[in-house]
Amino acid sequence: MNLNPQFVAIEGGAALDIRTLAGTDPNKDMRTLLIALAFVHAMVVPCLAETFQERIGLCLTCHGENGQSDNVEVPSLGAEPAPFVPIQLYLFREKQRRVEPMTDAAKDLTDDDLRQFSDFIARLPAPKPPRGSPDAARMERGRTLAQRYHCGFCHNPDFSGRDNIPRLAAQREDYLVKALREYKSNTRPGYDASMAEVTQPISDTEILDLAYFMARAE
Ligand code: HEC
Ligand code: HEC
Repeated sequence: MNLNPQFVAIEGGAALDIRTLAGTDPNKDMRTLLIALAFVHAMVVPCLAETFQERIGLCLTCHGENGQSDNVEVPSLGAEPAPFVPIQLYLFREKQRRVEPMTDAAKDLTDDDLRQFSDFIARLPAPKPPRGSPDAARMERGRTLAQRYHCGFCHNPDFSGRDNIPRLAAQREDYLVKALREYKSNTRPGYDASMAEVTQPISDTEILDLAYFMARAE
């Protein structure tokens, strides 16, 4: 399997995101700024950050200390199945999954770090869905689509994830949309090709409804 074209696309995609979208959308600007600030922090502090708590603390400045991310397009990590996390960290470290802040955050991690960080992350509390009552019609559309495409067959009926399959329940909606679009356009290489196949027949409108529903599943 030749994955190179995907990597080039990802690299191009990430560069495009940061360089050309800045200045066009205030949310993106804010996100770029927040990520840049956290990243500068992460770059400057490592020589001082020796203990495990300090090192994982840097990760959680982006991902949220209680397992819940408040940052646009940064995933919540609470209650992720322990085997899923080291695989993704490995993909980031080896620059197979390329998204700038993460390839940098993962580049010096040892195999022991991958295990330790993953065990810690798996014990963080599960994220909570956004407050407010959900739009019942969209929830129903999302639920029907999840059944049609058998999402719960792999991700567990309550979408809590298992083994190398991530948790979806109460994940950030913007991150779910991003992930699904990237699998569909083959710009996010995964541990296997399951999600590229799953997303092929799914339209963009369906992606939005699925993400709305998953983000509010408890
Ligand atoms: C500067 C912010 C930032 C820092 C610091 C950071 N991350 Fe991330 N992380 C991200 C972003 C953004 C993504 C989503 C990448 C994408 O869009 O595919 C991510 C993705 C991940 C994922 C994949 C989750 C999933 O559901 O796909 C894991 C696991 C992860 N980070 C763990 C860590 C660990 C462990 C550290 C510390 C060593 C860390 N991160 C530090 C921003 C950060
Ligand atoms: C055949 C099993 C299978 C089915 C069916 C499946 N998934 Fe997945 N899914 C996976 C695997 C395996 C991964 C991790 C792939 C990787 O390494 O990137 C994943 C990853 C994801 C992610 C990335 C989450 C993150 O935190 O990075 C999202 C979002 C997702 N799936 C949504 C869905 C939705 C929505 C459906 C139904 C439309 C679905 N999946 C159906 C196996 C499956």
